[in-house]
Amino acid sequence: MSKDTSKFNRRDFLKGGAGVAVAGISSGLFSNQAQASDLGGASSRLSGNHSDDRFWRKVKNEFTLNRRSVYMNVGTTGSMPKDVLKDYDKNNKIVAEHPWDMDNAFGSWPYVNDMIAAIAPGFGANTDELVLSRNTTDGMASIINGLDFKEGDVILSTHHEHIGATSSLYTVQERFGVEIFDVELPVYTGERELTVEDYMRPFRQAIRRFGDRIKLMVFSHIPYKTGTTLPAKKLCRLARSHRIPTLIDGAHTIGMLNLDFHDLDCDFYAGSGHKWQCGAGATGILYIRDNASRLERFWPSDRRPLYFVNSSLAASADYYGAQLVSQYVGHDNYPAKQALTDSCKMWDEIGRQRIEDRVLDLSALCKEELADKIPEGTLFTSPRRELSSGLTTFNPFSDWTNGELLTEFRDRLREDYGYIIRTTDFHIHKDSTESTYALRISTHLFHDEDDVKGLVKAMKHLARQMS
Ligand SMILES: Cc1ncc(COP(=O)(O)O)c(C=O)c1O
Repeated sequence: MSKDTSKFNRRDFLKGGAGVAVAGISSGLFSNQAQASDLGGASSRLSGNHSDDRFWRKVKNEFTLNRRSVYMNVGTTGSMPKDVLKDYDKNNKIVAEHPWDMDNAFGSWPYVNDMIAAIAPGFGANTDELVLSRNTTDGMASIINGLDFKEGDVILSTHHEHIGATSSLYTVQERFGVEIFDVELPVYTGERELTVEDYMRPFRQAIRRFGDRIKLMVFSHIPYKTGTTLPAKKLCRLARSHRIPTLIDGAHTIGMLNLDFHDLDCDFYAGSGHKWQCGAGATGILYIRDNASRLERFWPSDRRPLYFVNSSLAASADYYGAQLVSQYVGHDNYPAKQALTDSCKMWDEIGRQRIEDRVLDLSALCKEELADKIPEGTLFTSPRRELSSGLTTFNPFSDWTNGELLTEFRDRLREDYGYIIRTTDFHIHKDSTESTYALRISTHLFHDEDDVKGLVKAMKHLARQMS
């Protein structure tokens, strides 16, 4: 642990504005405790005519994050808003006191219907298309392992997928003899501008190469390694035109971007509830378009194309339909799902487009500050708005292959300056023999300009010390 905090120390940095509780926005402002399924308190506190700055300060005050540090690793997991947490505690108590009927707190069996009905419109989905899952990994595994592949089938994926997807892909590769082909995603290094077309081209080439052997296309809407936003809607359109079903890993988009699943027109979308959506741990959202009906058209087969491997009702799938069958995995953590629902409702009340704009504005500021204050460093996410996200990846050093140095940087940034971010590593090319390392910064609705500027100032100071 480094103790060299000669000029700047953590308290000084945090005193500079970043991470400090905002004076004048008292907790009394939001004093009514929200009821389960009713976030009236937060919405009334956030309503009214405010300047943008004042509005986001109020939003920031809705969170209970430790103010002695600045948490900028939402990409790993988020943090529940105060009211959501309060009701989560209350609901856990109800379940402990009334284990049998839970005091009817969650409606009637299967207990999640009201929750789904409340949040589905916010995602551009019908209620019979949305499943409250355990997390992204759960959603990805349920779909990939449920599909009836056969030897010689091809799944298109990319070389920047998360293990939450690749572990299931490797399983079906082993089980069925499926070929997994990784499309090489271009990586921005500042050398040349990248465009949406640069991300479309390799998919088109792969489709030309494998033709109708392709039975599924799997890609992250925002690959976690670089934080690039892929042109998901265009990729889905391309896949549809070749009758290829799409499964999107949306670990980083739920709660960050303003999603409309119908407009996106993918077949399956699996995301996290606990990351950018700031729901309870072990919650996620799985979208199954129209009972997976398109699968049979795109993928004609004598057999059922999708088995519900993760359900207590799988044997009656035709009767119950895809949503209920996928939802019902046995006894569930209803307080956690209610907390996710409550968090989604808060997002809907703030406005999902407004949140996306805020996240992307802070991310743009972060990129500008990094380029300006640490010009010797390298950004691995394009500054183009349509390709960027709330995840910014950056290496302040000229040697991108030194992972240990960046791990030390991350730890010292936390210990000496109070900023919590993480590291990431990736292959720039599919055949790269060495990993490239970067720092990964998350900017979210509970951050402000001071947080971003304070972080970059700390990074600049630490980079000078460690160079
Ligand atoms: C792209 C991506 N997919 C999947 C996951 C796994 O998410 P979860 O913990 O919700 O399963 C992560 C986690 O960081 C991720 O970054």
